[in-house]
Amino acid sequence: MELGSRLAVGLLLLALCSAQPVKFKDCGSTTGKIIIVDITPCPSLPCILRKGQSYAVNVTFASKTSSQRIVAAVFGIMSGIPIPFNVPNSDGCKSGIQCPIRNNQIYHYLNYLPVKMQYPSVKLVVEWELKDELDRDLFCWRIPVQISS
Ligand SMILES: *[C@@H]1O[C@H](CO)[C@@H](O)[C@H](O)[C@H]1NC(C)=O
Repeated sequence: MELGSRLAVGLLLLALCSAQPVKFKDCGSTTGKIIIVDITPCPSLPCILRKGQSYAVNVTFASKTSSQRIVAAVFGIMSGIPIPFNVPNSDGCKSGIQCPIRNNQIYHYLNYLPVKMQYPSVKLVVEWELKDELDRDLFCWRIPVQISS
């Protein structure tokens, strides 16, 4: 195989196997700064979310505050109206992060987004917030998704 096609195969494998950083919109992170948002699998936007599947979420962020508690809030925004999404675990301290959160640290927030069979096949925006103990957003990001059967 010539170098060019080997490189192409290598890049393809890398894209298929590794976590995939997605382009996100920041929706008001104040006490933290988002570094990477990974949704797996989501090779391109909008993320195609298949019913009955679960998607791994890994958000790398830097904290700009300390906090005893952290809580996630997830919404599906359709025609501008946010609808609360149930995530299996809204306690951020049980999502790969050891609490209390300390100032000036890098954290990896790990969770799953399960896509229920009964969800409608629609395009929407997912908003994911992680709130500190004073209800401020450590992070808030939005990505477009398409729910599909
Ligand atoms: C989460 O993402 C970070 C940065 O890309 C990576 O170093 C870490 O291994 C990931 N964690 C998991 C469990 O995938």
